[in-house]
Amino acid sequence: MQTAAPAALPAGESAPARAPLLIGVPKETVPGEKRVATVPDVVAKLVKLGFAVAVESGAGDASNFSDDTYRAVGAEVVPDAPQLWSRADIVFKVRPPTPAEVQLLREGATLVGFVWPAQNPELMQQLAARRATVLAIDALPRQLSRAQKMDALTSMAGVSGYRAVIEAANAFGRFFNGQITAAGKIPPARVFIAGAGVAGLAAIGTAANLGAIVRANDTRAEVADQVVSLGGEFVKVDYEEEGSGGGGYAKVMSEGFQQAQRDMYAREAKDADIIITTALIPGKPAPKLITADMVRTMKPGSVIVDMAAEQGGNCELTEPGQAVVKHGVTIVGYTDLASRLAKQSSTLYSTNLLRLAEELCKAKDGRIDVNMEDDAIRGLTVVKDGQITWPAPPPKMPAAAPKKAAAPVAAPKGHGHGASEPMSGKSLAIVFGVGALLFLLVGLYAPASFLSHFTVFVLACFVGYMVVWNVTPSLHTPLMSVTNAISSIIAIGALVQVAPPLAGSGTDRPNQLILGLAVFALALTAVNMFGGFAVTRRMLAMFRK
Ligand code: NAI
Repeated sequence: MQTAAPAALPAGESAPARAPLLIGVPKETVPGEKRVATVPDVVAKLVKLGFAVAVESGAGDASNFSDDTYRAVGAEVVPDAPQLWSRADIVFKVRPPTPAEVQLLREGATLVGFVWPAQNPELMQQLAARRATVLAIDALPRQLSRAQKMDALTSMAGVSGYRAVIEAANAFGRFFNGQITAAGKIPPARVFIAGAGVAGLAAIGTAANLGAIVRANDTRAEVADQVVSLGGEFVKVDYEEEGSGGGGYAKVMSEGFQQAQRDMYAREAKDADIIITTALIPGKPAPKLITADMVRTMKPGSVIVDMAAEQGGNCELTEPGQAVVKHGVTIVGYTDLASRLAKQSSTLYSTNLLRLAEELCKAKDGRIDVNMEDDAIRGLTVVKDGQITWPAPPPKMPAAAPKKAAAPVAAPKGHGHGASEPMSGKSLAIVFGVGALLFLLVGLYAPASFLSHFTVFVLACFVGYMVVWNVTPSLHTPLMSVTNAISSIIAIGALVQVAPPLAGSGTDRPNQLILGLAVFALALTAVNMFGGFAVTRRMLAMFRK
């Protein structure tokens, strides 16, 4: 934690203003890495949070952000890495630091970026030796909905899934969409996607938008609907086994399932022009789904993009970081797909880091509080003041509501809100008795015209209750359905009052007060109903292109 407890001051003296922390953004040093951890738009927002920001000269060049664009939003541009690292209180990075970079990190400083603590135990030791605090963005507990805005793995996988299709299109010698031209008919490309997680779904959407026929498989059956909604077709393995291991991740499948899956993949490989593989179970080597034999059966000129190349690859013939041609099939094993769309991925990544900075600096005073009581922050803090705190205990998820036991008797048909306990004969008799007594009293003492209005009112309440309560909530939530039903009833009642009486009906026009109330009720229900339509339109627009 960078905030020290303030020492007690003599009465009357105010605490001296503490200098804001300096966030340093170095140029990435891994060869070929084009991303930058903070883009100018985000610098401006970090400055608003109270931080000072320094950027190494040229850090944004490869993603089209010049030094001048950083200066324009209030960042200081520092000429070289040693100066930047030696001054920064907090370093924002993309790739894990190299040993040379760790040596440049100031003692006690904070580092934020990808670290991969499981794969880099030595790096963890070096960082601890610098008494650093390290926030590994890859260790964020993604299952917490609050953490989603900081989920850089997801934003990078989305960009990479898109880029995987573009790489495939580049290596493939044909159109994706089918065409009928004067020169002949062109069939659409057939794309098969293995694994429909974040990257897989992005690839499905992109390939479908380009006009290809897209088929996809995943061991988690729950993603089938998502595949279809993005324009793909879900291909099932002919073997009954649930593949979900919880938290949105898969589990290792039985040998029987794997054999059935291999048979299915062999059939798909023969038909596919392009295969994009994204299958992975975190912490496990990538499953080998495309064997050398399957590659041999593919049509010459076909393409495989193996996104899991860095974890050993989903295809037996993948060479990580390379695009190779084997048996006439181009196998792309690039491990830098996000960096190949550097401007886009830098923007998304730095927004994730900004959201993290907002969580760390709730007071907007340019200081950070690494709160180990906060599940999201605890999860990604892998070193705290020189102590290795990785792995974090699993976050405390809100307890799932206990499942209700199945109702022994089926609810009456059309009842939208579950069956309520039927009233016992005794309580029914009491309700009716009280009702009858009430009527008797009203009949005895109230004027005759009131009795008829009161009867209509009681009947209206009964009918209204039955109508509203029997609305089946097919759209939105039960609450919305019920409020819509109530609004409709109010609108009808108010319209009846506002409408002029029928000629010869003998009914007088209602007085001004009743008219006013009816108009007011109509206005309120109109707000509710048209507001509901407007909200629905906005929600639907989110799914339209
Ligand atoms: P994810 O965990 O969201 O998705 C992986 C999917 O694979 C899950 O839906 C899982 O159910 C499925 N799966 C696991 N085992 C399977 C099996 N045997 N058969 C079929 N499906 C199976 O992961 P995400 O974020 O989509 O990333 C996918 C891969 O892409 C990872 O290997 C990741 O490291 C890699 N990646 C590669 C990049 C590159 O530049 N090459 C950049 C970003 C991600």
